[in-house]
Amino acid sequence: MLQRPRRNRQSAAIRGLATETHLQVQHLVYPLFVLDTKGLKQEIHSLPGVYRFSPDTLLKEIESCMELGLSSFVLFPAVTDALKDTVASYSTNPDNFYLQTAREIKKRFPECCLISDVAMDPYSSDGHDGLVRDGRIVNDETLPILAAMSVAQAEAGFDMLGPSDMMDGRVRTMRQALDAAGHTGTGILSYTAKYASAFYGPFRDALDSAPKSGDKKTYQMDPANRREALTEARLDTEEGADMLMVKPALHYLDVIRLLKDNSNLPIAAYHVSGECAMLSAACQNGWLDFDRAMPETLLSIRRAGADVILTYFAKAFAEKFPSGI
Ligand code: PBG
Repeated sequence: MLQRPRRNRQSAAIRGLATETHLQVQHLVYPLFVLDTKGLKQEIHSLPGVYRFSPDTLLKEIESCMELGLSSFVLFPAVTDALKDTVASYSTNPDNFYLQTAREIKKRFPECCLISDVAMDPYSSDGHDGLVRDGRIVNDETLPILAAMSVAQAEAGFDMLGPSDMMDGRVRTMRQALDAAGHTGTGILSYTAKYASAFYGPFRDALDSAPKSGDKKTYQMDPANRREALTEARLDTEEGADMLMVKPALHYLDVIRLLKDNSNLPIAAYHVSGECAMLSAACQNGWLDFDRAMPETLLSIRRAGADVILTYFAKAFAEKFPSGI
């Protein structure tokens, strides 16, 4: 035998030389849920180890992450039903606690990267990402709402905006609105290929944001489709996106690879709530070893081509593997 692949696996030192994929804390983004109250740190039932925070406890959480070298966050608001309406007007309200919290975070930790969520669903009484008219989600009338939300978020100090709504043309509308308001430095991390997935369940529990009627299949992508992601990627790129995202991650590793091979922009992947919950549940039952299964899972997303991973395990990874893998 001239070729013996096992020779390169003989020792940790040799394996280290041959390692193809690395994962560092700097590649991770930690999703955080914020609620308008005080002194709250409440575990999400369907997402063990993940919490909903009030602004005060959230700042402490961010501080402890920053100490671990974890400095990128995506923030989601849990809005009470009383503040929701059909046009998501609370999203641009000057008293909006989500915007105030962002301001506070960037004041305390100017060096962090804070990413927003741009979509109507947290603020919408219909629970949809776009405007609902006669039972349909209307595209073009949603765009100005997303643009106003974007400018308000940029003013609050978010470094990057994350449109997760899947309306057509939103990236261009947002970019134009941001530039017109002087926010040329605010980036757009676009949810380019976001699928109509069953794996968002725990997230919707956390925010109480499930659609009141129907589903999201007229705007989120069909899980059966791969080439369509290329169309979305081309459009987002032409419209001015700074990074492209695939969501979910684990069940869409082929789509991550496809975008990586067809784009020069950084590729992000969202390891979503349901995907994390599956692993946590198996580990709680003693069926899987978290300390091994978690890094292997994140590494597989990197190997598929993700430069950036949004994951609820970001802090656990930073704690257990401070110098990466
Ligand atoms: C909605 C949004 C969702 C997630 C992020 N932004 C849920 C949805 O589309 O219904 C899901 C994230 C997760 O499951 O972790 N704009």
